[in-house]
Amino acid sequence: MDELLKIKEEALTKIHDCISLKELNDLRVFYLGKKGPMQAAMKSMKDMSKEERASFGQVSNKVKQEITQAIDEKKLTLEEAEMNEKLKSEKIDITLPSNALALGSIHPLSMIREELEELFIGMGYSIAEGPEVESDHYNFELMNLPKGHPARDMQDTLYIDENTLMRTHTSPVQARTMLDAKGKGPIKIICPGKTYRRDDDDATHSHQFSQCEGLVIDKNITMADLKGTLELFAKQMFGEKREIRLRPSYFPFTEPSVEVDISCHNCEGKGCPMCKYTGWIEILGAGMVNPKVLEMCGFDPDVYQGFAFGIGLERVAMLKYGIDNIRNFYSGDLRFLNQFTRKD
Ligand code: PHE
Repeated sequence: MDELLKIKEEALTKIHDCISLKELNDLRVFYLGKKGPMQAAMKSMKDMSKEERASFGQVSNKVKQEITQAIDEKKLTLEEAEMNEKLKSEKIDITLPSNALALGSIHPLSMIREELEELFIGMGYSIAEGPEVESDHYNFELMNLPKGHPARDMQDTLYIDENTLMRTHTSPVQARTMLDAKGKGPIKIICPGKTYRRDDDDATHSHQFSQCEGLVIDKNITMADLKGTLELFAKQMFGEKREIRLRPSYFPFTEPSVEVDISCHNCEGKGCPMCKYTGWIEILGAGMVNPKVLEMCGFDPDVYQGFAFGIGLERVAMLKYGIDNIRNFYSGDLRFLNQFTRKD
């Protein structure tokens, strides 16, 4: 018994003084293993009486338990200390300046689109969408361009089959929105999106480009509403001093139709290559919604009037940022795109 208690004292002291997990494991193997002093002390059991053996057994079990518990507790302490040591030695100095991460930039067309969306949402418009693969019906028929209409030639079309095409303008979204409204106004939407034409690509033409359609339908809408809206657009996009000028034009879906010019923001009207020395830049097409279109799309033209406009996003971006080749928008050239890097 004395021997057992001595072993215990010794073991507990050693466990207490131990400073590494490896050392602790060695102690565990030594004291609880088969070749340790405990095991040796047990050997004397065979010379004991039955009662002695029982109480010796009890004590030795208790000693084993105490040693095991001491080892387990010490293990936790050592593990924690080891972790703290590791944390301290592997500390990362987060105050060191890191390598600068290159932030992407917003594509100039997206910038224009977002700017337009913000402007028109501020005026109470909502944003509408429509398919890019469109039927002849929405793209042409409902826009008052029946088959054989000469004005179809204005929009060289990429056909998929006889009745399916890549939309040549965002105007079919007008028809879709009006039909959805089932003859009940008001409607105030813009529709920014991709459009397609069978064009030969050059510095100012692309077979795929972007437009932003606008449509307002309500009672008592006049040309003055259209003009005021476009004036605001011009000032927002090209500066407070911009003026607009309306020239008579022709679109089958609007009557009357206008071509809209803005006073040149590059030369303030004095004359420069950008405005071809006229002081004015052609910027978009617009007009009062043709009563025939209203009727085909389920609105009573005696009750409702409306205006519509179609803005070319590439054209606006080219004018605003002085971009001289439309291909820049689609080439993915970082030297071009990085000029629009975010400043935030
Ligand atoms: N859809 C016309 C085009 O692509 C633009 C336009 C839209 C004109 C709405 C008038 C009204 O050329």
